[in-house]
Amino acid sequence: MELKEVMNIRKSVRSYTGVQISEKQLKAILTAAHEAPVGMGKYDSIHLTVITKAALLNELDANAATFFGNPSMHPLYGAPMLIVVSSNSEGNVASANVGFVLQNMSLAAVEEGAGQCIIYGAVAALQQNKELLSKLDLPDGFTPLGALAVGKTNESYTSRKIPETHIFAKNEIQ
Ligand SMILES: Cc1cc2nc3c(=O)[nH]c(=O)nc-3n(C[C@H](O)[C@H](O)[C@H](O)COP(=O)(O)O)c2cc1C
Repeated sequence: MELKEVMNIRKSVRSYTGVQISEKQLKAILTAAHEAPVGMGKYDSIHLTVITKAALLNELDANAATFFGNPSMHPLYGAPMLIVVSSNSEGNVASANVGFVLQNMSLAAVEEGAGQCIIYGAVAALQQNKELLSKLDLPDGFTPLGALAVGKTNESYTSRKIPETHIFAKNEIQ
């Protein structure tokens, strides 16, 4: 698939069958992560955690629901895998690095036909719960900044007309 097609059909998937993607699909997604640009080439400033342990996913989901004040919501949408992207630095470059890694993984997942959704809300909730955070077993100094929910879905990716509301305001200075 051409990149422009992948970008066009990309969307956030918020319904999952509960079935994991294949090893081959996961490998394609992780390869895309490693192909991302990282400021100053500091690839050791990024850490990935691939979570498939159902009990931990449930805890992360419930923690986020509590954080958002709605215990009946499911901020991870029942996805059977969450790839958490952590950084050991702060500021605009660190957050951009995480964003680029997530975007690469997201587009690779779309190309693979896998459901995916970028998740920051549940990560913000996780940052506030030190006991839960310790279960990610992150190296010292690393903080989770974003994540990608991944899994098989019954939804499909189809050609999209970009809504007017998605067009950024812009000005020109000549
Ligand atoms: C930085 C960032 C954080 C996001 N966090 C969440 C999130 O926590 N939960 C969620 O359901 N979607 C999240 N999204 C997905 C956006 O809501 C979604 O991309 C946007 O509404 C456009 O919809 P689309 O991806 O279907 O085109 C996030 C997207 C970005 C770029």
